[in-house]
Amino acid sequence: MDNSQKITLREILEKIKQKPELQGIDNSIVSSAIEKYLKKNSIPIKILDNFREKEIKILVKDVRAQLHFISGQFFEISEKERADNYTKVKEILSSLNVKSILDIGCGLNPLFLASNYIEYNAIDINTSYIDKINSFFKKKGIKGKAFFYDLREIKPMSLPDVDVCVALKVFDVIEKRGHKLAEKIIKNTRCRYFLISFPTKTLSGKPMTHPQRGWIERLLQRLGFSFQFFKTKDEVFYLAEKV
Ligand SMILES: C[S@@+](CC[C@H](N)C(=O)[O-])C[C@H]1O[C@@H](n2cnc3c(N)ncnc32)[C@H](O)[C@@H]1O
Repeated sequence: MDNSQKITLREILEKIKQKPELQGIDNSIVSSAIEKYLKKNSIPIKILDNFREKEIKILVKDVRAQLHFISGQFFEISEKERADNYTKVKEILSSLNVKSILDIGCGLNPLFLASNYIEYNAIDINTSYIDKINSFFKKKGIKGKAFFYDLREIKPMSLPDVDVCVALKVFDVIEKRGHKLAEKIIKNTRCRYFLISFPTKTLSGKPMTHPQRGWIERLLQRLGFSFQFFKTKDEVFYLAEKV
């Protein structure tokens, strides 16, 4: 039985986004994940004219897994743990007395961290988060905005100059191998402080034996930052300051 069919990239994209939790991810991000899959498997686009059902299923599954990973859905934690983490972040931010924040890979953090005293800029690839955050800011009269920005394409001087850049549980998801992108982001973000965090649980939910990230400590030192380390039950934080 020949169950091969012609399918367009657009149709593949729509199929992938049928999962409700992936609907907010911007189409440009989904397209580049599909292209990455095709390239990795040496599949020329014209082959899509004759793609077998089974091959489509494998592609859709693989790309969805990539997108679940970058959207951080593997790091789900309880409400209580999340509340403890936000308390810690608020405590750190208020000790710095900052007037402006840039939250990179913000997720829905701004709904919990923003206040009327601080200008809050937030970026993400998930447009449903961006819309939610902007309506929340408008309703509460919070200064600042959320906008689409792909950190993998970061360019110098393209992000607002702020007092503190917050990167919570983001560096682990934006690059799987090496830390070149993290370095590029730190170099291209204009701020006095960085607040960077990482989850302390593995993808399978087990606590990590060594939750500290030696690589970020070395990178910060090399780039001329001093830092302090904090820990909650399921997250580790580095507060770095340019010296
Ligand atoms: C693990 S979640 C963390 C969300 C939030 N910072 C928090 O602490 O709950 C990772 C976030 O990074 C965003 N993200 C992933 N890749 C990105 C990229 N290339 N550029 C900007 N944001 C990205 C995801 O959409 C997601 O909101």
